[in-house]
Amino acid sequence: MSAATEPRDAGHSGAGKGSHDPVQQARRRRTFAVISHPDAGKSTLTEALALHARVLSEAGAVHGKAGRRGVVSDWLAMERARGISITSAALQFEYGDCVINLLDTPGHADFSEDTYRVLSAVDSAVMLLDAAKGLEPQTLKLFDVCRHRGIPVITFINKWDRPGREALELCDEVHERIGLRPMPLTWPVGESGHFRGVLDRNTGEFVSFERTAGGATIAPEHRIAAEDAAEEAGADWQRAVEESELLSASGGDMDVPAFSRAGATPVLFGSAVQNFGVGHLLDLLVELAPQPTPREDVAGRTRELDAPFSAFVFKVQTGMDPAHRDRVAFARVCSGTFERGMVATHAATGKPFATKYAQQVFGQQRDTVELAYPGDVVGLVNASALGVGDTLHTGKPAVEFPGIPSFAPEHFAVARTTDPGRSKQFRRGIEQLSQEGVIQVLRSEARGDGAPVLAAVGPMQFDVATHRMETEFRAPLQLERLPYHVVRLVGDQQQRSTLQTRNSEVLDRSDGSALAVFTDDIALRSLIRLHPELDLRHVVADT
Ligand code: G4P
Repeated sequence: MSAATEPRDAGHSGAGKGSHDPVQQARRRRTFAVISHPDAGKSTLTEALALHARVLSEAGAVHGKAGRRGVVSDWLAMERARGISITSAALQFEYGDCVINLLDTPGHADFSEDTYRVLSAVDSAVMLLDAAKGLEPQTLKLFDVCRHRGIPVITFINKWDRPGREALELCDEVHERIGLRPMPLTWPVGESGHFRGVLDRNTGEFVSFERTAGGATIAPEHRIAAEDAAEEAGADWQRAVEESELLSASGGDMDVPAFSRAGATPVLFGSAVQNFGVGHLLDLLVELAPQPTPREDVAGRTRELDAPFSAFVFKVQTGMDPAHRDRVAFARVCSGTFERGMVATHAATGKPFATKYAQQVFGQQRDTVELAYPGDVVGLVNASALGVGDTLHTGKPAVEFPGIPSFAPEHFAVARTTDPGRSKQFRRGIEQLSQEGVIQVLRSEARGDGAPVLAAVGPMQFDVATHRMETEFRAPLQLERLPYHVVRLVGDQQQRSTLQTRNSEVLDRSDGSALAVFTDDIALRSLIRLHPELDLRHVVADT
């Protein structure tokens, strides 16, 4: 029996739909993100998933690219101008008896730090590959984060409607380059570009592919019994059957525990733009993807799902609604029931936080959230006190979840304002951007003038900071780029003076740790050669 039909202890059996019990509700939740390289089809797939769940009557309403109909998921003017999605939000919809929380992630590599944070809030991920390109750099980077966190991954090989690579070759690539054993649940009939449909490896049926006009409606699925498939698809069917048998012989059959351990990945072939394979993906998420489980707090204690309400902030976003300069903190519920209006405690300060304005946000679409359960994402409006990584909770015992790590920056610039009369606004703006995680803010003792050094994983983060400082804080930024690209954590702060050279310097983080930054690897290696006693550590994403 395949995973797709295996009975599970999950809410999709119907139990718990009307219940207010957080444990029952958690069983119904599937919280995941789509990870992909830009242009693999993430926006298209998001839209297709929502379409399948009948949220949208017609595809096109949540597309995240410029120049398309009703661009809902891009809210900053800059995003529209550049045609990229900088910010993330969450889309919630019911599918069968389940509640699907799809967390959006920015496509552009420069905003990968934001994507990493989103991955701290999901229970599984869908890795979307372009059939012509296979694994691309951004997919690999994001997959590393999934591996690090033990996030189970489902692979969707997209764009099978147009010429691409061989299915076996793509599966081999997944196995060889990222060490995930592929377990195809469907197998393409007809090579990419001559896509006739898929062989459902569970039922043995042929699911034929029919192009729809612009993919705007749910593609009709025709299931044809294996004995009639040969007549329908001839040699393509024969080849698919043979390749599928080969897969079974080489360990490519579904193995649920291996998926849960993040050691193997179920694979589906499809076409997001044609809505083909998308329904199967949703079914798979419902039946196979993990539901929310209890989280550990900073002290390593488990916060059970039925403990009082707790949540952590994984993203802060300002200026989503240009009419009101509001600030929304996106929090993932970890335990208990969230009820709008409840007063929670902000663990970092011990201060009360009123949740009167709680919303579900996807792009410019906002709905008030009355109740939320483990796995859900709540957008807390006017959350000026909340920063990325903060915990909210009610009741006893108090809880604080581990903060979300900062990632190794690769670009640095000294920030000053060109308008000395606005220095107060400048300081406030920089502080806010830091709290939101738009950029990292470092200080330099050696530079002496107190100007902050902005650090970014991708240089476009500087553009966002510049834009926001000018439009929101009216404190125009002048950035002096520094020549550093390699960074290490300083293990022994007594060694600071040794690290201050022509090709390196020491910058301080707000948490008291210090970073040594180097122009390049050569500068780092030659300093270590001169001073082998230097205690320098990698800035690991998940420490
Ligand atoms: P992204 O969010 O991952 O960056 O990708 P997006 O969905 O924007 O898709 C990137 C391009 O790939 C789009 O084309 C989209 O239509 C196309 N695409 C997505 N899925 C499929 C698929 O299954 N088959 C084919 N053939 N194409 C697909 P574009 O030319 O950039 O935009 P558009 O003019 O088509 O809207």
